Amino acid sequence: MRIVSIVGARPQYIKLAPLHRALVECHVDHQVINTGQHYDYQMAGVFFKQLSLPKPKYNLEVGSAATPEMVARVLERAASKLRKMKPDAVVVYGDTNSTLGGALAAVQLGIPLAHVEAGLRCFDLAVPEELNRVVTDRITRYLYCPTPQAVTNLKAEGITRGVFMTGDLLYDVLAESLPPSAERLRLLKRHGLTERQFLFLTLHRSDTVDNKDKLRQTVALISSLREAALFPVHPRTRKKLIEFGLWGTVSSNRHLKIIEPLGYSETLALLSCSRMALTDSGGIQREAYYLKVPTLLLRDVTEWVEINESGGSFIVGLDRSKLLEGLTSHRFDFRNRIIRRTGAAKRIATRLTSLAL
Ligand code: UD1
Repeated sequence: MRIVSIVGARPQYIKLAPLHRALVECHVDHQVINTGQHYDYQMAGVFFKQLSLPKPKYNLEVGSAATPEMVARVLERAASKLRKMKPDAVVVYGDTNSTLGGALAAVQLGIPLAHVEAGLRCFDLAVPEELNRVVTDRITRYLYCPTPQAVTNLKAEGITRGVFMTGDLLYDVLAESLPPSAERLRLLKRHGLTERQFLFLTLHRSDTVDNKDKLRQTVALISSLREAALFPVHPRTRKKLIEFGLWGTVSSNRHLKIIEPLGYSETLALLSCSRMALTDSGGIQREAYYLKVPTLLLRDVTEWVEINESGGSFIVGLDRSKLLEGLTSHRFDFRNRIIRRTGAAKRIATRLTSLAL
């Protein structure tokens, strides 16, 4: 059996790791197409190295582009490779432009499609990732959901066939990739930080950083912080901060420690030692939850409802009083075990290989 995974952005490289291993254990000829949506070493290469990912069979080198052009490039280039590879199924991950482009290529060629992280919703089609999710799920044959809420969301859209609750692949990767405590302490020292005395700050979503007013308000919010915050800056965010004339404000803030994007093990190490995460990222809010680090969400909504409703995260949006509440008095709770479910990769691989494709 031949299965092709289509990946291209940082979070997809991470999720590929456990699923690749599980598929190989199931004796699958598992091949990878890397779209190249992310291409800087710190956004792509470092994950191949740290997570021992297989060398992609093809690199599509789509690079940077506006969303329609990027989806079109992935679709066209992935389709030409899939014709040669003739897989029994294609797997796409998450909600990026590579997800949608890869999904369209597979379905238009009549190849069964599986979607890892199906069913997540923020219910706002103006968010690029939401459009990618909704369209991908609508055309996917095998929908692998990380949470019960994701299954419920699909049901509400009339999608019930091929839906399977698998758990979160990130939960498995995290357990394997978290460096030992001596290494964590070394990293803290290297960055001049003290355990539990700093915040871990990330921003990257286009609906947070592409709008000038919203980014200005976000910067104002961050500027109100009175404690150290480690800020690994995503390339999109850096570009937009410079374009909107906000880079000076951010880079001169003495509480912010601005660094390049981190590798995976460094991210987990430093996040695990932080007092709190401040983020708009889907991945970081789960990793923080699994590491029992409280998260303040710099968005008005979250797709990870179970974490939020059980008390692992707190929605701040752009509200300064909420930020203060989150930083000082809000009570967090990490007892919910529903989404802490090991074995997602094995579950997906077993399911995928047992299907009569
Ligand atoms: C993408 C995904 C988002 C995911 C995120 C993880 C979409 C619509 N969004 O957002 O769901 O959470 O990846 O990071 O697919 N750039 C570089 N070097 C790189 C990669 C990007 O400089 O290695 C710059 C480019 O100038 C590009 C910008 O960052 O224009 C944004 O990159 P893009 O691929 O559009 O998506 P992300 O913002 O990373």
